[in-house]
Amino acid sequence: MPCQKAICRRVNMSKIRKQFTVFCCWCALTLLCGSCRENKNRSGDGVAALSGTATSGWPARFGWGKPATDAEISALDIDVRPDGKGLPAGVGNAVEGKTVYLQKCAACHGLSGREGPQAQLVGSVDDTTKAKTIGNYWPYATTVFDYIRRTMPYNTPGSLTNEEVYNLTAFLLSANKIIDSTTRLDAATLPGVHMPAQKNFVPDDRHGGPEIR
Ligand code: HEC
Repeated sequence: MPCQKAICRRVNMSKIRKQFTVFCCWCALTLLCGSCRENKNRSGDGVAALSGTATSGWPARFGWGKPATDAEISALDIDVRPDGKGLPAGVGNAVEGKTVYLQKCAACHGLSGREGPQAQLVGSVDDTTKAKTIGNYWPYATTVFDYIRRTMPYNTPGSLTNEEVYNLTAFLLSANKIIDSTTRLDAATLPGVHMPAQKNFVPDDRHGGPEIR
């Protein structure tokens, strides 16, 4: 006799519920076993790492990354040494430098480099304010170039052209009365600029060892 519709549906539903419960149990067991196996592996690694054998089966390379191109290396390799090694081509003077300074630096360092609100840049050796400035504290002129090129403007470092950095260096050295406003600075002349504060420094030629402990 054909069953009534409502009863048939109830029978089918209970069958489905039973199958679903079995499926859920199977999933839970599989997950449980999986995580047990993982934990076991992990603790195995730990022991192996402690005994120093963990890397024996590793490949020599993982295949991540790529060799840096010459252009990528030279974009980062911009250090300038005290003797001028590393200075790029270009030339600058204080008059041009003042224009760049007013546009890109004065907002933070003041119109004359003395007012701030950020670091005071101008102040001669006999400056009585005790602020550390290019004039009374920096031992090498080439560092002024290096520092500006690498770090300033503070909010957009790396945005200045080499020409702008030569101009700014000339302006700041001139404002500190270290060079006159007509001096042209380039890779040949900048290392020759003598800084008044250099006499306050001694070369640190220690090589380590008991004498410095
Ligand atoms: C948004 C603000 C800002 C701008 C714009 C800015 N600077 Fe600076 N500058 C700073 C701050 C902040 C410091 C101190 C950084 C530190 O001590 O780490 C600083 C430090 C310096 C110093 C080192 C001072 C010292 O004796 O320690 C120089 C030189 C300098 N800036 C030059 C420039 C020049 C040149 C420009 C324009 C191209 C410029 N700055 C633009 C915020 C600024």
